[in-house]
Amino acid sequence: MDTTQTTGEVLREAASTHLHAEGRAFLGSLYVAVRSLQLYPLENQTVQRALAEVDAKARDILRRESILNFQMAGDFLFVNDVRIRLDLGNYASFTFVRKGLDRQGIGTITIEPGLELREWTPFLSILAASQRLENTFDALRERVSRAGVTHVSIGPAVVVTESEIIAQETRAAARRTYTRSVAVVREVMTNMKLGRAVSARRVKRAVMGIVDQVLQEETSMLMMTSLRDFDEYTFTHSVNVCILAVMLGQKLGLTKQQLFELGVCALLHDIGKTRVPAWVLNKEGKLNEEEWKHMSRHPAWGVLTLFQVQGFDEPPYRAMLTAYEHHMKLDFTGYPRAVRKRRLGLFPRIVAVADAFDAATSKRSYQYIPYPPDEVLREIRDNPKRGFDRVVVKAFINMMGIYPVGTVVILDTGELAVVVAANPNPEELHRPLVRLISDPAGRRLPPGAIVDVSAIDPATGRPARTIIKTTNPDRYGINVAEYVA
Ligand SMILES: [Fe+2]
Ligand SMILES: [Fe+2]
Repeated sequence: MDTTQTTGEVLREAASTHLHAEGRAFLGSLYVAVRSLQLYPLENQTVQRALAEVDAKARDILRRESILNFQMAGDFLFVNDVRIRLDLGNYASFTFVRKGLDRQGIGTITIEPGLELREWTPFLSILAASQRLENTFDALRERVSRAGVTHVSIGPAVVVTESEIIAQETRAAARRTYTRSVAVVREVMTNMKLGRAVSARRVKRAVMGIVDQVLQEETSMLMMTSLRDFDEYTFTHSVNVCILAVMLGQKLGLTKQQLFELGVCALLHDIGKTRVPAWVLNKEGKLNEEEWKHMSRHPAWGVLTLFQVQGFDEPPYRAMLTAYEHHMKLDFTGYPRAVRKRRLGLFPRIVAVADAFDAATSKRSYQYIPYPPDEVLREIRDNPKRGFDRVVVKAFINMMGIYPVGTVVILDTGELAVVVAANPNPEELHRPLVRLISDPAGRRLPPGAIVDVSAIDPATGRPARTIIKTTNPDRYGINVAEYVA
């Protein structure tokens, strides 16, 4: 720990760690309680248990804090000013609770110590209502206090602009598509491993969702690829590669039908890994010769495995080819070794670039610290030994900008920021759109508005901010997903 920290700072930091865990637990219990109130009569045991649980979780927080302030603002959730991290695990409960609050126009819930268990039922019933209960916020407040709820007070929702709401909805849709696709990959790979029948139907539907989303609004989908979940690397990796490949295919002028086919190939490119032993897949550090033998078989296993998938009109040849060729490299110095002269297919070329980028920028068991995205891009572009197709790489750089989404950058103002989108102006690829993380003094900022790094300072006639360098988010304890999603 940094020795220059004062005791006060240390205590505050510890408190915020507690709050973060307890805030998440409270959100989860709130969700279960409201949901069970919707499903069962009040006397039901499930409801009673859920009410006791939400009460206990609130008490956990109130044991250390003088008050519990639960606030939702757009896509953000704060508990006593600590931003609660949303991820694939708690996003469903967040969305559900937010809808309940939105319906009644509630933005904040404040809970004071002394709250009694009986106060929860009337209060949570309001959140469980399927329709707006009162026309004005004052009337709703009145209703809460009439019901004898004295230790819970509510505040009105903050007004968000229409474009912000649309942006949020798009992001939510992107997140749904993403979560669903991860679930499909998880199911396919698990079934495959257990030797159960695997149907292509769900795979096709997931890919269709991704293609539609990319064609509609690709930025949100690109953001999702930076929401990397360590535990689920194999599954999220497949989905990320699928998204990146489809976006690349679109830049290369493929038709919607071709994008769909490419998406299926990309989603299944590592399917052969289901036959690689888990101890090899999860090994930390470099693989030894024997382990590498197992690992390097995954392209060939992929071809065999794909015969097991039912529901394609004919064997999925292009997916087989993609699985087989995605590590071969353009000069055939990769694996498996080419036995006779061949030409690398377009889909494998596209998937190879998407695959390399996602693999290098993700946390995995053998790569705890991912490489900065801009460095990975440079390596992909400049190192001929990597064996990528130049046209595909060029399209990839155009699509990602020089600083891809999720890169943490240091600005000449001393501010720290996360890249959230490439600059729409292709002349300004080195000046992306960012969200600030900390001010010049290093103080952490709440996730705020998006800043265009190409914006001109009217006083000087020059851009107000310039990127000096990129940095590793882990050094600052930053969860990038919080800022980009
Ligand atoms: Fe692979
Ligand atoms: Fe891969």
